[in-house]
Amino acid sequence: MIEEKRKEATGVLLQNGHIVLPDRTYVGDLRIRDGIIAETGHLEPEEGERTLDCSGCYVLPGGIETHTHLQLESMGTVTADDFETGTRAALYGGTTTVLDFATQFHGESMAEGLARWHKKAENNCYIDYGFHMALTEWNADLKCEIASIVDGGISSFKIYMAYKNNMMLQEDEIYDALSETKRLGATVGFHCENGLLIDVLVKEAKARGNTLPWYHQWTRPPVFEEEAITRLETVNALLHADHYVVHLSTADGLNAALKARSSGIEVVLETCPQYLLLDNTRYGTEMSEDFEAAKYIMSPPLRDKRHQEPLWDGLAGGDIQFVGTDHCSFNYRGQKEMGLGDFSKIPNGAPGIELRLLLLYTYGVEKGRMDISRYSEVTSTNAAKYFGLYPKKGILLPGSDADIVVLDPKPEWQVTSDLLHENCDYTPYEGFYMKGSVRDVFLRGQQKIASGKLAKDVRDGQYLKRGRPLKDIM
Ligand code: URP
Ligand code: ZN
Ligand code: ZN
Repeated sequence: MIEEKRKEATGVLLQNGHIVLPDRTYVGDLRIRDGIIAETGHLEPEEGERTLDCSGCYVLPGGIETHTHLQLESMGTVTADDFETGTRAALYGGTTTVLDFATQFHGESMAEGLARWHKKAENNCYIDYGFHMALTEWNADLKCEIASIVDGGISSFKIYMAYKNNMMLQEDEIYDALSETKRLGATVGFHCENGLLIDVLVKEAKARGNTLPWYHQWTRPPVFEEEAITRLETVNALLHADHYVVHLSTADGLNAALKARSSGIEVVLETCPQYLLLDNTRYGTEMSEDFEAAKYIMSPPLRDKRHQEPLWDGLAGGDIQFVGTDHCSFNYRGQKEMGLGDFSKIPNGAPGIELRLLLLYTYGVEKGRMDISRYSEVTSTNAAKYFGLYPKKGILLPGSDADIVVLDPKPEWQVTSDLLHENCDYTPYEGFYMKGSVRDVFLRGQQKIASGKLAKDVRDGQYLKRGRPLKDIM
């Protein structure tokens, strides 16, 4: 025991792994000492050093999850995962940093919203964490507050172009907000849909007695995303402020963003596994009485399959920069069921935090859509850069935090929600074939997952004060 403790203090040598860097992968060793990566290369064990054989496995930077809603109060309920269960599930899945959306509700200052989020997260996280600040309204007081929020280590905000009367901001407000974030060197993520027209269609559907879950996606067609991105980029043609599109779900939205880029606007893009892998057949048909469709009610909704390959191509080819899950879990029983008889009352969102890395590995790398270096960029490095965490996070370089995933590419298995650690009574990926497993995870040099099991049940995740976006990811 004493000997083990002494070895842990001395360090750990990961041996013979496929070390993944942005520009190459090589078989070698990685030395962890005092919580950071001490060196990489072809290394001999030092006196008293613990060694871990990583032959046949990838050694990757810990995953960075860019988009979660943990313990979020929404639509009359609270998301099923809080910071404890959500970050534990993330850890099992190889994610070592999470960026959650702290939310300022109506009438609140951002400082009040942020203080509540700090309280939710403090001493409850298994992994390191930071916050984006989500705005639900706009006024002069909030504008004045942005500088102090940025000072508190929050260099990214979220603005909704959907959820009228609840969270939606319009172009004049967006212009004003972006002017201020630009002045302060922060970025803003945009939820791109047409909130005004969604409202019209929801009212129309309900007036006709169309209340089944299928109608959720009928009220939010792909063209609303394309239109909202085009509208957003009109504002950015005037301002050229740092911004990105969250949870991009359509090929048409991607094309709108690429058009803006070709005119010199630097728009960064995030997509999610659900838009790459699930499609709108999950909603059945407009006659389907099967309420199971509620499990897939999220905004934006799942799309026609035709959108998937363009999104994969965008991700692999460099047009889309990173992948977050928009993990926003509600149990089917008791929560999704709040919308029985009225699709507009089904809480929006689905779980996904635990499977992000392995879904992307199986359907991205194993299926030959991207190589392992691009995989580590879109699951970790690019997010670290864009969200002001690089090179502390997101790369296997000497001096970086030793946040490391050892991914074994060999196991084949099938997803069932019983195997997962998310606090939700279903997974949208039930039955999915998977290749690979997260064998070991280190957070700042501490081994948290060993052979797929929780090695230490401690919630010592640290709050990350973040800096300005780095933009060499496009
Ligand atoms: O349906 C979703 N995605 N709910 C979470 C809020 C959002 O728009 O990201
Ligand atoms: Zn959103
Ligand atoms: Zn979201």
